[in-house]
Amino acid sequence: MRQHPRFLAIALLLALHTTPHAADGATDAVLKPWPVRSPQRDAALEARVEAALQGLSVRQKVGQIVQPEIRAITPAQVREYAIGTVLNGGGGWPGNDRSASPAQWKALAEEFQAAAQAATPGIPLIWGTDAVHGHNNVRGATLFPHNIGLGATRDAELVRDIGRATARAVRASGLHWTFAPTLAVVQDVRWGRTYESFSSDPALVRRLGEASVRGLQEGMKQGLGVLATAKHYLADGGTRRGIDQGVAHATPLELAQVHGAGYLGALDAGVLTVMASFSSWTDSADYTAHGKMHGNTTLLTGLLKQRLAFDGLVVSDWDGVGQLPGCRNEDCPAAINAGIDIVMVPFQWKAFHENTVRAVEQGRIPMARLDDAVRRILRVKFSLGMQSAVPATVEALQSPELARRAVRESLVLLKHRPGLLPLKRSARVLVVGAAADSMARQAGGWSVSWQARDATNADFPQGTTLLAALRQRLGDAQVTFDEDGATQDPARFDAVIAVIGEAPYAEGEGDIRVTDNLRHSRRYPQDLAVLQRVAGRGAPVVTVLYSGRPLYVNDLANRSDAFVAAWLPGSEGAGLTDLLIAPDGSKPWPGFTGRLPFPWPAGPCQFSTREARPWWPVGGGLSGRETTGSTARLPEPADPQPVCPL
Ligand code: GLC
Repeated sequence: MRQHPRFLAIALLLALHTTPHAADGATDAVLKPWPVRSPQRDAALEARVEAALQGLSVRQKVGQIVQPEIRAITPAQVREYAIGTVLNGGGGWPGNDRSASPAQWKALAEEFQAAAQAATPGIPLIWGTDAVHGHNNVRGATLFPHNIGLGATRDAELVRDIGRATARAVRASGLHWTFAPTLAVVQDVRWGRTYESFSSDPALVRRLGEASVRGLQEGMKQGLGVLATAKHYLADGGTRRGIDQGVAHATPLELAQVHGAGYLGALDAGVLTVMASFSSWTDSADYTAHGKMHGNTTLLTGLLKQRLAFDGLVVSDWDGVGQLPGCRNEDCPAAINAGIDIVMVPFQWKAFHENTVRAVEQGRIPMARLDDAVRRILRVKFSLGMQSAVPATVEALQSPELARRAVRESLVLLKHRPGLLPLKRSARVLVVGAAADSMARQAGGWSVSWQARDATNADFPQGTTLLAALRQRLGDAQVTFDEDGATQDPARFDAVIAVIGEAPYAEGEGDIRVTDNLRHSRRYPQDLAVLQRVAGRGAPVVTVLYSGRPLYVNDLANRSDAFVAAWLPGSEGAGLTDLLIAPDGSKPWPGFTGRLPFPWPAGPCQFSTREARPWWPVGGGLSGRETTGSTARLPEPADPQPVCPL
């Protein structure tokens, strides 16, 4: 029976979709778009590594590749199992104390270190942490703008300075390694981690990613810099519909030229660790499903370690190995054989240790692979000065002026009635909005805790909310706060400043679901309500939006005379008043230099960063000095809550 051509085409597509892995021949197609880099080996370092490796038993070698979380292991167990690395996750503090001091962090680090050295003399332990916008787990640390705001600055020298300051802060607490920078090139802003990305522009991600690594790792041997981590390898920001830990559909060329751009910059900067992505990759050229990155031998070993000559270590993500077919959190030879060198197994580390020793003894993990992993770990450890050169003080965690400058440079002005900004220093200001006095909304996720939903202003004694900064700048008498705008009459003021925005989130908890859309006021109706109360009531409205991504805000911008995309600025609210309020005396007003790192949507379904007709394109934004208005009324769809096409 002659099959209808359409039937054949569908059958072929189905067959392609079920191809479990690329046939070896296809490996070349995956590697070909990438450059060939040559290894840079140091003979003395290699000799030291070999000597240390020879002295280790299988059990000790496995201890080097297991990374427990500090809440799940004691120094005595570090010694018993010869563990070579630990991490604290977001919200993991020494003694479970969110207000633990740098000295307390350092004391625990020294306990772990002593235990490790007792088990494997001469081989140090390294402690990794997510210092992703300053040393954000430690109370008192300056919090910088998240990467999306740094992308708006386009300022590589600033990003390098922030890397350097962050490294000092991490060293002050006795730690050695930060899981940063994220090098995602985001394709769909529904992703809850969009704010961890510098931009949807690969060239900008490469430039700022390289600068961040150089800043973080500068002075590593002298106990000043720390290990940086290029993450999450590979194409974490390319998943379909922005679904966290989902499937990235990309051709091998897009993998190299879009999602790989940041890694080439990080490798140029000498990055020593790479973190594997939870996500999966499907080759959109031939529909081959390559599966989870944690098990992708071609990309982890063939590409990163061989073609790109990466000599550092690859660390898995949090229980990431447990997502591989046939694996559990506590048992996954496949991930190690694919190229994972350190397994981040926060809680089930003991079982993992025992299962992995057994797998080596039974030959399911070749000894050569274990030796290669340990060699890489030793190479990284011996590249680091273990003795911190930074005092364990709160001051060492702080760089307020640098952060204030970063905030200034990150702000993007999307709408402005000419002449409104900067407000005069004599202005009487009515401040409204749920975010005006909320450090949690101002800083975003990864701030003291993972989701930062439980964070209060008391967790940020070093921080200044925008409300507090306005009071410092103008004096209490000139600043009135009316959070929902229901009490005060705007006509009694020279201007209204409305501070609105997203509540903090991290990772998948921040994903915008496919049944939702980008309209901010759909998730936060109180932000529209407060503008409806104050707009057109006798005083101009300056709206400041805190968000981890671009959002559809036409209804909010139409009720504003100026609209500022502030991203997640962090602890230094004064960086905002520097642009909102006229400077003292003869100092010139800097104007808005921030420009969009992502396109800004003109509709509630414009999720894609490749959108052809956004409100503003990448690079868009006003200086505030324009004499012609950007105040035209923006269209507001009849149905404010469309279900967007899948
Ligand atoms: C998380 C994140 C990763 C982070 C790690 C340790 O799940 O995916 O970015 O570095 O776990 O906290």
